[in-house]
Amino acid sequence: MRPFTIIVGYRASDRAIGANGTLPWKIPKDMAFFRRMTTHTDIASNKNVVIMGRSTFESMNCQPLAGRINVVCTSMDMLDMPDVNLFFAKSLEEALEKCHKMVAIEKVFVIGGEQLYRYAIQHPLCEELIINEFSKCARANSFDLDAIKCDAFFPEVNEDKYELILDYNNIDSISEIRSSLQESEEGMFIKIRYKKYYRKTV
Ligand SMILES: NC(=O)c1ccc[n+]([C@@H]2O[C@H](COP(=O)([O-])OP(=O)(O)OC[C@H]3O[C@@H](n4cnc5c(N)ncnc54)[C@H](OP(=O)(O)O)[C@@H]3O)[C@@H](O)[C@H]2O)c1
Repeated sequence: MRPFTIIVGYRASDRAIGANGTLPWKIPKDMAFFRRMTTHTDIASNKNVVIMGRSTFESMNCQPLAGRINVVCTSMDMLDMPDVNLFFAKSLEEALEKCHKMVAIEKVFVIGGEQLYRYAIQHPLCEELIINEFSKCARANSFDLDAIKCDAFFPEVNEDKYELILDYNNIDSISEIRSSLQESEEGMFIKIRYKKYYRKTV
């Protein structure tokens, strides 16, 4: 089986990642970062794999992410669709086994949601965590993320197991909010803190 990376964007105050089966917010810089991280390969002919839970796949209207091999974890009996880079697995282990058998794979990412993250972060093959943490910033037009009611959360990172190796802050605007808030929020700002952890070797 192959080692993998978890990638996630969450609200700093409570590690919220989802609301009503979808993303609680749309943060363009974070979305571009996710696309770049999961799509980029050092060798042009290679591809990366994204592994996700069934609910996350459904939140994407059951459309595989372009330019990546998609593996969906579900207990349901589903047929692989290699022509559209879409595969199914009954467990994370089966998903990693499938990745292992594929040729020209460069990196494997677990991309959520809560249920799959909770399992994956405990897995011995989880070697890296890439995290964007969102919070209020010190500007007048800072967006209050805490006003959004969420129902899916990322687990706490156990720093006995994972070592923080990168940590820096950034500022971005939120161009659209999909949440219980009705209006779209243009020109509002949040702080993005980028963190990267590696699994500690024992
Ligand atoms: N902010 C972010 O970075 C981010 C990223 C991804 C998702 N999200 C959000 O997270 C929320 C969804 O999270 P969720 O916990 O409800 O759903 P999820 O983890 O995406 O999917 C849960 C389903 O996936 C399958 N599954 C999960 N772990 C499995 C395992 N180890 N082995 C086999 N099957 C497994 C099961 O499918 P079956 O029931 O079919 O067996 C389970 O019911 C949404 O709001 C979504 O928008 C946020």
